[in-house]
Amino acid sequence: MKINEFEVETWMTDHETHCKYNLTETCVSSLSLSELQEYTDENITSTIMNMTMDYGPIVGSSRLKKAILSLYETGQENNITIAHGAINANELVMITLLEPGDHIVSLFPSYQQMYDFPRSLGCDVSLITLDENKNWMPSINDFQKVMTSRTKMICLNLPNNPTGTTLPLSLMKELIELAREYDCYILCDEIYRGINTKTSQLSPSWSDYYEKAIVTQSLSKVFSFAGLRLGWIKGPADVIHMIDLRRDYHIISSGPLDDYLACLVLENKDQILKRSLEICEKNKQLLKEWLESEPLVSCVIPDEGTVCFLKYAVDMPSKEFCEKLQDETGVFFVPGSAFGVENHLRFGFTHEYEYVKEGLTLFSKWLDQFR
Ligand SMILES: Cc1ncc(COP(=O)(O)O)c(C=O)c1O
Repeated sequence: MKINEFEVETWMTDHETHCKYNLTETCVSSLSLSELQEYTDENITSTIMNMTMDYGPIVGSSRLKKAILSLYETGQENNITIAHGAINANELVMITLLEPGDHIVSLFPSYQQMYDFPRSLGCDVSLITLDENKNWMPSINDFQKVMTSRTKMICLNLPNNPTGTTLPLSLMKELIELAREYDCYILCDEIYRGINTKTSQLSPSWSDYYEKAIVTQSLSKVFSFAGLRLGWIKGPADVIHMIDLRRDYHIISSGPLDDYLACLVLENKDQILKRSLEICEKNKQLLKEWLESEPLVSCVIPDEGTVCFLKYAVDMPSKEFCEKLQDETGVFFVPGSAFGVENHLRFGFTHEYEYVKEGLTLFSKWLDQFR
């Protein structure tokens, strides 16, 4: 199977371990197990030390599925299955449902897995290019233009990495009508759902509005527990059943330890999401103020998600820009080119305020040479 290099992931692997200021991180400041203990009365150490290390519940415990369902308005346990992070959740959905020759529609820029993985399966991909001048927002017309009778799936990542784009409910409903007309699935990677700084509410999930919607999510980003490698899929019961049959070839289970700890994270989601919201809110405010005093950088700041896409007005390709910036200051960004868009940098609202502030101050000083 031929597949393009996953550019954002290789860039992260090659650069993130030797930076001083990671201003591109997508996971809200990760939590430790001691911090998780502060949210719960259950004795984590004792439970874990007495746990038998068998495979655990193969498709996820009932307790975990119930905790996951609390994030949605609809659904039952047979609408959920467990995966190794959202990356594996997306993969399981696509390898189960897509076949060579199927047509899929996706957004660009977006998380590369949503269009290059289907390509590697032999699918024909139509990309809708998001326009920064339209606040990175697609229109229903953009989708109407590319849908065909072969369209099997619309593959979305919303809130989007790297732009933070989220669709308003009215546009979600229009797109659902269109998908219904073509009887096609909507897959949405909702890994950045959960921290809307405008409404402070959980935003609508596609899975609560469309009978052929499949959504994925994980504990990595807004829940601050990437190390658990725990993700899930919510979708129609027949699709979940097909995925479970396929899943046996890939992961078997995610193990009792991760299952148990994931229950604790999700059962304490209100406090964890509140913490994440506060961190992102403060950093959005900081970024807004910083942008006012930094004429070489501009940005459409999104309401939801943990990232946005900075545009810089310096005539230098983004890879070279990021390498030079990191070598000279320790400030680390993912270049826009990793998402196929030049003169941009992915910014994350995820670290502690003082750390982000110091990083941005250094970045401004470094930009002085281009004024
Ligand atoms: C849109 C999107 N989906 C999936 C992933 C992978 O997440 P996980 O850690 O849950 O596998 C990422 C990580 O950056 C992401 O940005």
